[in-house]
Amino acid sequence: MNMRGDMPVKNILVVQGGGRPKGNTAQLVGHFIKGAEDAGNKVELISLLKNEVKGCLGCNACRYGKPCIQKDSFNEIAPKIRNADCIIFASPLYFWTVSARIKAFIERFYCIAEEDTNPPLGRYERYPVKDCALMMTSADNFFWTFEQAVSYYQFALVNYIGFHDKGVLLAGGCGDTNGRPQIEKTDWLKRAYEFGKKIYSGLNEKHILKEWEERAMLINFNGQQERKTPPL
Ligand SMILES: Cc1cc2nc3c(=O)[nH]c(=O)nc-3n(C[C@H](O)[C@H](O)[C@H](O)COP(=O)(O)O)c2cc1C
Repeated sequence: MNMRGDMPVKNILVVQGGGRPKGNTAQLVGHFIKGAEDAGNKVELISLLKNEVKGCLGCNACRYGKPCIQKDSFNEIAPKIRNADCIIFASPLYFWTVSARIKAFIERFYCIAEEDTNPPLGRYERYPVKDCALMMTSADNFFWTFEQAVSYYQFALVNYIGFHDKGVLLAGGCGDTNGRPQIEKTDWLKRAYEFGKKIYSGLNEKHILKEWEERAMLINFNGQQERKTPPL
């Protein structure tokens, strides 16, 4: 096993579902990767723009021992998923949730599931056990901006598939796509770097979601609209 100091090197697979190659999400991911590599982790980036993954057809061929009938990039990505310790789902916020590219990618997890003879309540199949994290950018920055996306992440990836949540970085206020990316004017790139650096240090930014939720509740009660970013 490769080591970094007395810790094992972690394999992190970053899956990027943004539409702009040099956009806010690409930049956020770039800084995360730099931090994670500086901390000694091995990181691989997959752009779903360059590697097309279509949504599941529900043909269920995979349930009868056959490979997925769709011939796209998922076939090359599947072994990387199996090999990864952690999968980062990175996406711009599109219509208040993750992009269709990320959603399609998650749907295809159906074909890497195995039969579970003793499934926990509410689950039908077994998935490989991985860590995961969600990283997103958006134009707006209301307290409810990422509500649906985080809810989907929590329900589908953490509660259902059973991945272990390593944290959520929600970069609101990065400007819309009608112009140059604005993320460099925020402190989210710094935060993404720190997130990458700390994700396997035991000091990761999981607190961001927690603080964000608490703050959102407070802001909600106070009747204000803007989401305040918790301090680093
Ligand atoms: C199709 C589309 C839908 C969007 N929907 C939302 C939205 O629901 N809420 C929001 O705050 N921003 C929304 N945006 C803005 C993007 O989330 C934001 O500009 C993001 O940072 C773009 O990421 P990128 O630079 O990586 O492409 C949308 C942009 C597009 C193109």
